[in-house]
Amino acid sequence: MSTDVVSDEPLRTAMVERLRDMGAIRRDEVAAAFLRVPRHLFAPEATSLEQAYDVEAVIRTKWTEDGTTISSVSAPQIQARMVEQAGITRGMRVLEIGSGGYNAAVIAELVGPDGQITTCDIDAEVTDRASRLLDEAGYSRVTVVLGDGELGCPQFAPFDAIVVTVEAADVPPAWIEQLVEGGSLVAPLRVRGLTRSIGFTKAGDRLVSTSKELCGFVAMQGAGERPRLWVPLRDGKVRLRFDEEPCPTDPGVLDRAFEAGQAQTWTGVTVRSGESIDTLQTWLATTADGSCLLSYDKDDKELADALADPVSHSMCNAVVDGDSFAYLTRRRPNEDTVELGSRAFGPNADALANTLADLVRAWDRDHRHGPGPQYTIYPAGADAQGLDGPVVTKHHIKIVTVWPQPPSDSDAPR
Ligand SMILES: C[S@@+](CC[C@H](N)C(=O)[O-])C[C@H]1O[C@@H](n2cnc3c(N)ncnc32)[C@H](O)[C@@H]1O
Repeated sequence: MSTDVVSDEPLRTAMVERLRDMGAIRRDEVAAAFLRVPRHLFAPEATSLEQAYDVEAVIRTKWTEDGTTISSVSAPQIQARMVEQAGITRGMRVLEIGSGGYNAAVIAELVGPDGQITTCDIDAEVTDRASRLLDEAGYSRVTVVLGDGELGCPQFAPFDAIVVTVEAADVPPAWIEQLVEGGSLVAPLRVRGLTRSIGFTKAGDRLVSTSKELCGFVAMQGAGERPRLWVPLRDGKVRLRFDEEPCPTDPGVLDRAFEAGQAQTWTGVTVRSGESIDTLQTWLATTADGSCLLSYDKDDKELADALADPVSHSMCNAVVDGDSFAYLTRRRPNEDTVELGSRAFGPNADALANTLADLVRAWDRDHRHGPGPQYTIYPAGADAQGLDGPVVTKHHIKIVTVWPQPPSDSDAPR
């Protein structure tokens, strides 16, 4: 990348100010680390300086023939949030899974000369590039390892923190084993189709969550690759996406649901236009039976009209119950307000639309303004009987999601 004409310094300073303003950077030492590392040196030649220092810009570095990104330099805002989630400080031993160079350089600044940073990637092209760029930028003390992050990096363990920068559908035992007691794991974890960067602290054989951030990451390759399960309806123009559990019903039955009855319920719950419904999505995904995500071809006008405004064309919470399914919809009583509703198809449409609507009302009443859920990760063999919340079972782990109890009337100020 050419830096002949414009210096990157003002852009770097502006990036850090913006990251602070948006709450992505909270500590001074994190700001100092982001100020010191020249991010543009880790971007491909064709990247403009403005793009390199744009807080939201993901810079693609490798993609497949069909255009799917398989490697990138992640956006500064999520890199900053994740190093904050991990609580990285001087002297720590840190493992980054998924390399690019820039994030490892920021971590190298944070851990300082007495710390240790290892970055591991499954792709030799990525590790070669990261090694070269780190050397050129003066960060040759970052150890770059070629390998499947599923196994962690036993030759450099234990670690005070592990930061996973690729979407993980599970938590393999190596990550827990290679962390010190009280150490942090931060990973973009996919649970019931929704991916959030979750920060955990290790407590014995468990991980207990301490933070959660919205994020999007490229999919894991190698032994930890877990494809999503798609159920096509209407010749694939509507799709239901499952994750850990397959579709509980024969897909043909659900395709016929379109002709077997429909229902629409409005909840009276409103959100501001553009307001995040992150906790609602997580609430529905973790508590609703038969939870899945609906997507559809939004350019098909007839179909879009029939579906009547799902809250998203690519990731709309839905539930399946036997021969019927329901999903979240919206309408706009005015320009600034969106009312949430549920629409259902199938013989059981009325009941299912009401069930989903009741869950939305419960979120609004009990959890909308609360701290959100706490996740605890147990080994897959843990006895589910003793666990105190909805359990999602994966290959390696059980995840228990506990939503805080809403304050009772007797707690109200008098
Ligand atoms: C978003 S990029 C990493 C970005 C990087 N941390 C940065 O500096 O911004 C994700 C990387 O994860 C890598 N990856 C995918 N599966 C992996 C696995 N099983 N083990 C290690 N790396 C993996 C990909 O090759 C890709 O380079």
